Amino acid sequence: MRVLLDSETIGRRVRALGKQLEADYAGCRPVFIGLLKGSFVFLADLSRAVDLPLEIDFLGIASYGNQTEPGAVRLTKDLAGDITGRHVLIVEDICDTGQSLVAACAILRARGAASVRTCLLLDKPERRQVAFVPDYVGFEIPDVFVVGYGLDFAERFRNLPWVGICEEADRADPAPAR
Ligand code: IMP
Ligand code: MG
Repeated sequence: MRVLLDSETIGRRVRALGKQLEADYAGCRPVFIGLLKGSFVFLADLSRAVDLPLEIDFLGIASYGNQTEPGAVRLTKDLAGDITGRHVLIVEDICDTGQSLVAACAILRARGAASVRTCLLLDKPERRQVAFVPDYVGFEIPDVFVVGYGLDFAERFRNLPWVGICEEADRADPAPAR
């Protein structure tokens, strides 16, 4: 697998995003909402780079698409807390077509959030199919399928500490799961 972003590069960018969020949400108690599952590593690092009394919750969003192509969106896990009147930051691994983030923003606005912004580790603007402009982006990347740092191919590779380009040869089935 070819490394696209090594862990030092990711770490530096995540710390910079954290400083920016700290300034932008100063005086606030924002709720960082990670979209499951892909955001879990980014959210863990990002939240520790923000010195504010923030809260954390999760929303499960999945698309009906196959492993590398998107489809319609469905809710797989609801929030644990009430976000009425709260400043919400959606934290997501990657934006591709934009469907998941458009759906997530609509759900959270409908719950009465005072504000809803989005923070992505990765953005693939070339792939956009619906109008969506993120507020914070770690890295813009070309139209390649990436894994690691939370992102998966068929549930594999989420635990890589870096982001790599998942080539055809990397997709072959490993030993059966047990
Ligand atoms: P969207 O709704 O099409 O923007 O899809 C976003 C979701 O698709 C992300 O949250 C990921 O779960 C998945 N996805 C999109 N591109 C990639 C990729 O390159 N690698 C792994 N997952 C991806
Ligand atoms: Mg995702």
